[in-house]
Amino acid sequence: MTATDRLTEMLHLGMNTALVIHDPSNILYLTEGYAGEGMVYLTAERKAIITDFRYTEAAEKAAPGFEVVMTDTDHPHEKRLAELCRRDGVTELRFESNYLSVDDFENLRAAVGEEVSYVPLKKAPQTIREIKTPAEIVTMRKAAAITSEAFEAVLPKIRVGMTELELRLELENCMFRLGAEALAFSTIIASGVNGSLPHAVPGTRTLRRGDMITMDFGAKVGGYCSDMTRTVALGEPSPEMRKVYSTVLRAQTMCEAALAAGKNCFEIDRLARDYIDSQGYAGRFGHGLGHCVGIDIHENPRLSPSCHDTLKAGMVITVEPGIYLPGIGGVRIENTCLVKENGSEPLTTARKELVIL
Ligand code: GLY
Ligand code: MN
Repeated sequence: MTATDRLTEMLHLGMNTALVIHDPSNILYLTEGYAGEGMVYLTAERKAIITDFRYTEAAEKAAPGFEVVMTDTDHPHEKRLAELCRRDGVTELRFESNYLSVDDFENLRAAVGEEVSYVPLKKAPQTIREIKTPAEIVTMRKAAAITSEAFEAVLPKIRVGMTELELRLELENCMFRLGAEALAFSTIIASGVNGSLPHAVPGTRTLRRGDMITMDFGAKVGGYCSDMTRTVALGEPSPEMRKVYSTVLRAQTMCEAALAAGKNCFEIDRLARDYIDSQGYAGRFGHGLGHCVGIDIHENPRLSPSCHDTLKAGMVITVEPGIYLPGIGGVRIENTCLVKENGSEPLTTARKELVIL
C-alpha cells in the first residue's frame, strides 16, 4: 500500500474532496521520495506535485506515480491548484491549518474561490507517520548505525584543550564519512559546567581533565533522522558526577526495558521521573523523557507527563533521561528505540556504560 493510499483510506475521501499538502515532511512521506519545493494535491483518484521549473525533473524522477504540474510567472502554485480543483469538481479542500500562515491561506482561498469549503486536515498525515513501515525502519536503522559508529570513531579524537566547536566538527565529520546525507539537527556539545544546559550550543570552551562531555547528535539518511546522546568523562569524574551518571543510566535502561506496545506514554515518563527524584535530583530532570522520530526529529507521541497516548508497534521513539546541575554539569543518555508488540529494540547500539577517556 502506498503512503497516499494509507492517507486517503484513513480519511475516507469522498469524490469531490481534495487535499493540499505544504509541509515538506508530509510531502516527502506522501510522495515517498520527493524532497523539493512545492505542494502536493491529492484526491481519491489523482495525485499531483505542483512545483517550479527548478524541481520538475527531480519530481518526475522521485515520484513517478505523480502528475507534475509546473508553475510559471502567470500561473503560481495557488493558480495551478485552482485549475486542478476546477478540473476535478472539488467542493471541499482539506489543508494543513497547523502549517500554513494566515497570509498563505488567504492567497490560496483567493485563488481557489469562496464556493469551495476549506477544512483543516488536523495533522492526518502526521498521524499515519507515527507507525513506521518496514521500509522506513530499514532506513532508520541505517541512520542509527551511523550515529552509533560515529560515537566510537570520535572517542579517540577527544583531547584536553580542544574546544567544543572542534569536537562538534570531528563528530559531524565522522557522521558524514560514515554515510550521513545531512545532520538531523544542530549537534549539541556541552562540556563541564555547560552540561547543565540540556540544549547547549557548542562554543569556544576548551575541554579540561575531569569534564563530563555530553554529545547529542543525529544523522539523516534517505530523509529519516536518528537521535542519540552520550555523556563521556575526560579523566576521572567527581564522585558526585559518577552518581549522576549511574542514576541516569539506570533510569534510561529501566524505561527502555518498559517500552512496549500498549503502554501509556506518561507512565513510561513517570518511571524515569520518580526514580530520578528518589535519588535526590527532584526538579533536575526538567524535560520530557522522549519523542518519536522519523522524517522530523521531533514527532508525536512524546514520552512526557502530558502525553496520554498509547504506544504502538512500529513507533520509533527516544528514551533520553538527564540530570542537570547548574554550576556543576549534567548527564543525558539517549537511545532511539523501535517499539514492538512485546517490548522494544534499541536502534542505537552504542555502549552506554560510562566511558572514561
Ligand atoms: N536531540 C535533540 C532533542 O531531542 O531535543
Ligand atoms: Mn532526542
